[in-house]
Amino acid sequence: MKVLIVGSGGREHAIAASVAKSDKVDKIYCAPGNAGIAQLAECVAIGAMEFDKLVDFAKEKEIDLVIVGMDDPLVGGLVDELEEAGIRTFGPRKNAAILEGSKAFSKDLMKKYNIPTAAYENFDDPEKALAYLETAKFPIVLKADGLALGKGVLICNSLEEAKAGVAEIMLDKKFGTAGNTMVIEEFMTGREVSVLSFVDGKTIKPMTSAQDHKRAGDGDTGLNTGGMGTFSPSPFYTEEVDAFCRKYIYQPTVDAMAAEGRPFKGIIFFGLMITADGPKVLEYNARFGDPEAQVVLPRMKNDLIEVAEACIDGTLDQVDLQFEDNAAVCVVLASDGYPVKYEKGFPIDGLDEFDKHEGYYCFHAGTKLVDGRIVTNGGRVLGVTAKGENLKEARANAYAATEWVKFENKYMRHDIGKAIDEA
Ligand code: AMP
Ligand code: GLY
Repeated sequence: MKVLIVGSGGREHAIAASVAKSDKVDKIYCAPGNAGIAQLAECVAIGAMEFDKLVDFAKEKEIDLVIVGMDDPLVGGLVDELEEAGIRTFGPRKNAAILEGSKAFSKDLMKKYNIPTAAYENFDDPEKALAYLETAKFPIVLKADGLALGKGVLICNSLEEAKAGVAEIMLDKKFGTAGNTMVIEEFMTGREVSVLSFVDGKTIKPMTSAQDHKRAGDGDTGLNTGGMGTFSPSPFYTEEVDAFCRKYIYQPTVDAMAAEGRPFKGIIFFGLMITADGPKVLEYNARFGDPEAQVVLPRMKNDLIEVAEACIDGTLDQVDLQFEDNAAVCVVLASDGYPVKYEKGFPIDGLDEFDKHEGYYCFHAGTKLVDGRIVTNGGRVLGVTAKGENLKEARANAYAATEWVKFENKYMRHDIGKAIDEA
């Protein structure tokens, strides 16, 4: 079959690598893709938000399955348009992708269906938000309602900071229309865990757990980024936590969406905080995580195409989802200065080492081909993933592999997975 993947990051490279392993697949296209994905797929110069062009391309090439990796096109309704054109697509329709697209929607859903999450209020009037803050407890968390590249969350330690935050989000519109509505919620403490799951509208099958490192600097300092590295599984995600989440969070979320007339098919990514009062939902995403996919997918034993088709067909209950009994760590190699200001266009050396080593992967995030050479082309450049028998071994392997890769301006965190030392 012919598969089209929509997106251009490390996540889409990890998806492409899984798809390439399937016996069912003869040809992979990726729109727009990057220099790493181009080694597995034919990349086409169509942007992820160019819906008409994507539909035309899928029809012209008689694509059998489209996999949408990114949040923007999902929230914007790409799946609806492809399905209306008769093209099988893996991902939630617009009315279900709102689970990620509107934090106010997802908070109200959790409240209505008693799904554990931080206490909150939604506001569309900045005056009311400011009045509410006068009597609030600090720290407090402000969230722009809509998509904001993972940057629309502000943790405020004082009334002054929170007032400035309301102004940034609602008045200055730092995150554009994403800030027309805002959630103000209770600050939670605990361990963060990401659990990605396959969903077919009624059945949910969680994947193995992972943990991201969102801040730019070692020791969780510096600015929030798209993610500087991940490990999987999380030692903090115990069997007890898993049993609780399945019963009180995962299935209730799927049932709630179905009850609201918004059946969810695709990936639900649960951002969880394991608090002293038990696990609570920090956020939902409607897609694989980036760079969570880079440690979860390499450990998956199933054929991704088979699982994706089961989600579309509503037969996920018949799938026995299995993961390897090992661990993986992904260290992101970024351009120095990310996430603010950085240079790009530097040639990258050492990438061929990964072909020589089983269990090692170099997923491209921001790269492009210039005159036959792969050069840096973004803030996050590469995701170096390695497996190991356990987390410590995987971490040592991943950091050893980061040394194979050389480019000017190379920056990484040195403490990805360090939390496991405390487990
Ligand atoms: P989100 O995009 O909602 O996942 O938020 C980004 C990050 O902000 C999360 O990964 C957490 O580290 C932090 N965060 C979000 N909500 C809360 C909360 N209620 N309490 C503490 N930290 C939070
Ligand atoms: N790594 C966090 C995300 O994909 O949203």
